[in-house]
Amino acid sequence: MAQEKVLEINQLKTYFHTKRGIGKVVDGIDLTLHKGETLGIVGESGCGKSMTSLSVLQLVPDPGKIVEGSVRLNNEELVGKSEKQMRNIRGNQISMIFQEPMTSLNPVISVGEQIAETIREHQGLNRKQAFQKSIEMLKLVGIPSPEKRAKQEPFQLSGGMRQRVMIAMALACNPEVLIADEPTTALDVTIQSQILKLMKNLQKKLKMGIIFITHDLGVVAETCDRVAVMYAGEIVEYSTTEELFRHPKHPYTKGLLQSLPKLYEDQEELQAMEGSIPSPFKEHQGCKFTDRCPIAEDSCHQIHPDLKMSSDHSYQVRCLFYQEEKELTKGMSSV
Ligand SMILES: Nc1ncnc2c1ncn2[C@@H]1O[C@H](COP(=O)(O)OP(=O)(O)OP(=O)(O)O)[C@@H](O)[C@H]1O
Ligand SMILES: [Mg+2]
Repeated sequence: MAQEKVLEINQLKTYFHTKRGIGKVVDGIDLTLHKGETLGIVGESGCGKSMTSLSVLQLVPDPGKIVEGSVRLNNEELVGKSEKQMRNIRGNQISMIFQEPMTSLNPVISVGEQIAETIREHQGLNRKQAFQKSIEMLKLVGIPSPEKRAKQEPFQLSGGMRQRVMIAMALACNPEVLIADEPTTALDVTIQSQILKLMKNLQKKLKMGIIFITHDLGVVAETCDRVAVMYAGEIVEYSTTEELFRHPKHPYTKGLLQSLPKLYEDQEELQAMEGSIPSPFKEHQGCKFTDRCPIAEDSCHQIHPDLKMSSDHSYQVRCLFYQEEKELTKGMSSV
């Protein structure tokens, strides 16, 4: 049975128009999220992961703007919606856990009231009922003594608990899509794995689609069904998690995996990738990865490669030199 699409992003471009010029921070992204699935977005710092998710929610900060493309939630176009319309959709059908929990929580309002406010806005409950529901949400995300914690302000909670509060807030209205931007990066490993388990459990219960943003490939392997690898505002590889770890295809993906200890079978020795991501303000003619690419040739400086789909539609790669083995074998067997 074909999976049901809940979110479709097509040719999304988000640019920053500044005195320095135009920063192409999201430069033609296509992504699809199905009901109940977890889609990972990975890539180094600055590659555009957060800007992609903020674009989906129509929360791009000034002077950034979506200049092209479409974001459809259950076939409804979000690009161009008014702030009022978006406020109704955000937190209700689509929620986000932001990278910085402290900046998205109000420091002087109790966490229970903050969750209750979201619930009141979207579910028409009165103050008392909404506060009661927020206690239930805190319990659901595994916060001990939720009645007591609900009355506390964010600074009275540990980092792990604040992150759970963010999750409780994001999930309070049973969204169909959750965008989790580095939800566990700032936490220690034990709490990190507790929170990941919690999200997966809630996902099963609520049949949510999750976009999971992280630079931690170990977390991707544990959590995601499919993965998009981003580099300088573009997707360079897009496939199932299994395929990505077993047979990475793009030189950048290979580099990312090689900088991890023993994650895939034919892995060569551990080595960090040299160089860094190019500035989104830099003009490009060819492939954006050329300067760091171990297999780049002259043509790579001239030709910008398309994101090519494999013949069985199971993955996509953006590299001039990627040859599809399956296609070659198929060709031979049909002779
Ligand atoms: N206000 C701004 N003006 C200009 N450029 C910006 C602005 N905010 C972000 N950028 C640029 O947008 C690009 C993408 O940033 P983004 O925050 O999406 O990266 P990221 O992949 O989420 O990184 P990280 O892993 O560090 O969170 C970066 O090059 C960043 O410098
Ligand atoms: Mg980010």
